[in-house]
Amino acid sequence: MNVPTLEDLPDPSGKRVLLRADFNVPVTDGKIDDDLRIRAALPTIQWLQEHGATVVACTHFGRPKGKPDERYSVAPVRARLAELAPGVELLENLRFDPGEEANDPAFVDRLVEGFDLYVNDAFGASHRSHASVVGPPERLPSAAGRLLAKEVEVLGGLLDNPARPFVAILGGAKVSDKLGVIKALLDKVDTLVVGGAMSFTFALAQGHGVGDSLKQADWVDACKDLLAQGGDKLVLPEDVLALGPDGELEVVGPGVPDGWKGLDIGPKATAAFCEIASTAGTLFWNGPMGLFEDPRFAEGTIALAKAVASSPGFTIVGGGDSAAALAKFGLDEGVDHVSTGGGASLELIEQGDLPGLAALRKASNAS
Ligand code: 3PG
Ligand code: MG
Repeated sequence: MNVPTLEDLPDPSGKRVLLRADFNVPVTDGKIDDDLRIRAALPTIQWLQEHGATVVACTHFGRPKGKPDERYSVAPVRARLAELAPGVELLENLRFDPGEEANDPAFVDRLVEGFDLYVNDAFGASHRSHASVVGPPERLPSAAGRLLAKEVEVLGGLLDNPARPFVAILGGAKVSDKLGVIKALLDKVDTLVVGGAMSFTFALAQGHGVGDSLKQADWVDACKDLLAQGGDKLVLPEDVLALGPDGELEVVGPGVPDGWKGLDIGPKATAAFCEIASTAGTLFWNGPMGLFEDPRFAEGTIALAKAVASSPGFTIVGGGDSAAALAKFGLDEGVDHVSTGGGASLELIEQGDLPGLAALRKASNAS
C-alpha cells in the first residue's frame, strides 16, 4: 500500500504544484452544505505553501458529462477555498473536458503544462482511472497528500489486524454497488449488518415480499449467494418502517405488504443494530439506514449514528451520505475517522488498492 508522500518530492520551493483534490462537495442553491472535503485538503496545502510552493488545485464537481455546464461550475468551491486557503488557485471543473473521464493523454499533457510537481489528495476520486488521477504521475514527480495518505493508512489498516469484534454496517440504496465489498468483508468481519434500501433485495432473496420498496430484482441471486456465504454473520433488519398507500406509516417486516414502501429500519432492527455497534472493537459504517433526508424516515439512521459515535471501539465512517448524516446531527466528533470517500473507501477495502495509488507508485520519484 506504500505510496510516495510529500517528503518524497524534490524540494518544492519556488515550484508550481498541481494539486488534484476532491472538492466534490454537496451544494444546494449555490451554497455549500458541508465543506469537509475542502477543509480536509488544508494540511497538504499548508505544507506545500510552507515549503515555498505555488499551489494550483483542480477537482471534478458533479457529473457534467464532458462539456461546460454552468450548473457544475466550481465557483462556490472557489469562493470557499479562497477563504480557507488564500493564494490557492482553482482550475475549472475537470469534467468539463471529455478527456478527463476518458483518460486522454492529450488532456493530461495540457493539464500538467507549466507544473513542476503533482500531488494527489483526492482520495474520494482515486478509484477513478481518470486523466487527472492517473496521468500526471507518468509525467511529473508525484506524491500523495496528507489526506490521501491518512485515508490509505486507516482504511488499508482496517483489514490487517482489526480489534474484535470487527463489525461492518452497510446501508444505502443499491446492493449492486456493494456486492463486491460485502463479499470481501464477509471473509474478514465478525458481523456484517445490512440496512437501508439495499436490504430489500436481500429480503426478496429470503423469500419475503417487499411491496413497493426499492429493490434490484436482477441481483436477487447474488444476494442469495451472499446469504449462504455469510450465514449467521450477516444480519438483516427484522422490522421496517413503511409508508402505506394513503400516506400512513406502520412498522412491518421483515417483509413489506403490497402497496407499501419500506423507508427506514423499524424499532427492533434499530435496537439490534445499535447494540451491535456499541459492542464492536472495530466498526466500519457506510450508507444510511433509510431516507434520512425526510425526518419521518431519519430515526434509524440517527439512532445508528449516535450508537456509532458513542461506541468505544475504533470507528470509521465512509461515504458522503453517512458522513453528511453524522455532520447533520453534530456527531462527527465522536468518530475516529470520517472518510472523505464513499466509492473509494469501499473499493479500497474490496481490492486492497486504487488506480490513483498504483499510479503514484510508478512516479519517477517513488522508491
Ligand atoms: C464522490 O463524490 O463520490 C467522489 O467525488 C467521486 O465522484 P464520482 O462518483 O462522480 O466519480
Ligand atoms: Mg459517489
